[in-house]
Amino acid sequence: PKSCSPFFRKKGRCLHMLPKHIGIIMDGNGRWAKKRALPRKAGHISGAKAIKAIVRHCNQINISCLTIYAFSTENWKRPKDEVESLMKLLRHYLTEVDMYIKDNIRVRFIGDLSLFDSDIREQIRQTEEKCATNTGMTFCIAINYGGRAEIVNAMKKIAVKVQQGELLPDEIDETTVESELYTAELPAVDLLIRPSGEYRISNFLIWQSAYAEFVFMNDILWPDFRPKHLDQAILEFEQRDRRFGGI
Ligand code: FPP
Repeated sequence: PKSCSPFFRKKGRCLHMLPKHIGIIMDGNGRWAKKRALPRKAGHISGAKAIKAIVRHCNQINISCLTIYAFSTENWKRPKDEVESLMKLLRHYLTEVDMYIKDNIRVRFIGDLSLFDSDIREQIRQTEEKCATNTGMTFCIAINYGGRAEIVNAMKKIAVKVQQGELLPDEIDETTVESELYTAELPAVDLLIRPSGEYRISNFLIWQSAYAEFVFMNDILWPDFRPKHLDQAILEFEQRDRRFGGI
């Protein structure tokens, strides 16, 4: 089948059902730094470095969409210097995303971008524009993202349509809601990975993960996460019996 990636075939395994959309909660940067008696921001720097190999790997094995949780709507509550170091990292990261563009990856940002400084917003706009016609994997970076805020935002847009007479309340269905989410044209999340030993969804892609398989990886903190860990999660996903509420 088409979804059987050449990568896994080479390994002697044929995945009959690769996840189309993988979500990753990149957790454990702070603990990684603490273990080394380093400041928390060193953990974030190391965490940002770990992203590249995972994106490349996902693209190589034919995953159609990868979404990473880089900054939540709740992360503004962190100490000012930590938020500042994350913004600095985001600025730096934005100068590097060009390398994905030449790999035919479509880079996208989801979240409420209005709270970011205008230089960041402009860089995001340019990045998305440059790779809009790419046809490879969609790499989605969630910043100032919150699943509840995303749903509220969708509700407001639907309410306006109703108010303007474009839509009747009775016509609202799941497709209507989905089409107003930040992830409108992306597939539902199949596999959600969280390293570091926390068993939570933390407001990440809550609508999109309704039937996602969760793989919590206790023994690894995000800065140490490598393609082999992703393969482990995919192999676990492959063994799950997905019934979507059926039998
Ligand atoms: C969770 O670890 C991680 C984050 C809140 C931020 C994730 C950010 C990166 C991996 C860097 C890349 C960032 C951008 C903006 C491109 P934690 O700090 O909650 O770790 P802890 O639970 O061990 O304290």
